[in-house]
Amino acid sequence: MSNVSFDFTGANVFVAGGTSGINLGIAMGFVLAGAQVGVLSRNPDKVAAAAQLLTDTGGRPASGYVADVRDPAAVSAAIAAFAAETGPVDCLVSGAAGNFRALAADLSPNGFRTVIDIDLNGTFHVMKAAYPHLRRPGASVINISAPQAGLATETQVHACAAKAGVDQVTRTLALEWGPEGIRVNSISPGFIAGTEGLARLGPDGDEQKVAAKLSRVIALRRLGEVADIADTAMFLASNAARYVSGVVLTVDGGAGMTGMARAMFASEG
Ligand code: COA
Ligand code: NAP
Repeated sequence: MSNVSFDFTGANVFVAGGTSGINLGIAMGFVLAGAQVGVLSRNPDKVAAAAQLLTDTGGRPASGYVADVRDPAAVSAAIAAFAAETGPVDCLVSGAAGNFRALAADLSPNGFRTVIDIDLNGTFHVMKAAYPHLRRPGASVINISAPQAGLATETQVHACAAKAGVDQVTRTLALEWGPEGIRVNSISPGFIAGTEGLARLGPDGDEQKVAAKLSRVIALRRLGEVADIADTAMFLASNAARYVSGVVLTVDGGAGMTGMARAMFASEG
């Protein structure tokens, strides 16, 4: 974790897809800052392990919910249960996603649909399920986007379409929910070390080689860390960002501004 300090004591934070990687890091950040946190994902073992880790870290119970974001009723039940337990939701993070590399020519209709269903439709289901429980005014929603939303990327037609859709959901619901005092933003992480996303999509090789290769196209010359994204999420949820809404905030060390993020995805494809 970083040395940046936020105070979310008394805040209720729900993280969909919060049982591993970047989203778990975000959940950890909020727990360390004093929030009451709930996480949701499909795998019961991952859910239990994440809830235990968050509970041990924060010294107060964190809640875990088993649900698939493709199932609106299950997501609604989980978020309703969290809100019944803790009170109105101050921050909702929607970051569940699935990805793999496949050229469009090799991608089945179900493969395309699966990623759209998880990333795009899932984001909508999570937001809609949380909507009745969001604190008004003051709630903040943070969706997790990706560079593919704005960069044509070989082997990523499913994720490109899904994450571009996520960005438009972010902007549209920022517009619709703004009058109620709900801010909606999204974070587009760059190459984040130690994550499933980087392992699946990045160049082959051990982490050091991958870091060396990718750092060449990153202005800050290092991979991102999960804590870089967690701190950004806490900034967006904090009062410091009270006039920030409808924004897709790129947090990539300056990799995407040149379009060089493409170097990662195109490298082996
Ligand atoms: N290449 C091409 N198609 C693939 C594929 C690959 N590597 N992996 C899965 N698919 C296709 C499957 O063949 C299937 O299509 P079909 O029925 O026409 O054969 C379809 O995608 C669904 O696969 P399935 O395994 O049933 O989906 P699932 O719902 O169990 O899992 C995934 C979803 C495929 C996205 C899975 O990788 C996952 O759960 N990922 C979560 C973790 C992750 O991706 N993290 C990184 C986030 S950036
Ligand atoms: P990850 O560890 O695989 O995280 C994905 C999370 O979503 C897991 O908790 C997973 O848990 C859950 N999930 C997946 N499918 C789900 C479903 N259908 N329903 C409910 N939960 C589901 O991946 P990550 O690399 O940290 O990525 C996290 C987010 O950051 C994603 O939105 C990704 O697109 C984005 N991102 C990542 C990078 C990167 O460098 N890693 C870069 C840009 C953007 P279960 O398996 O238990 O369901």
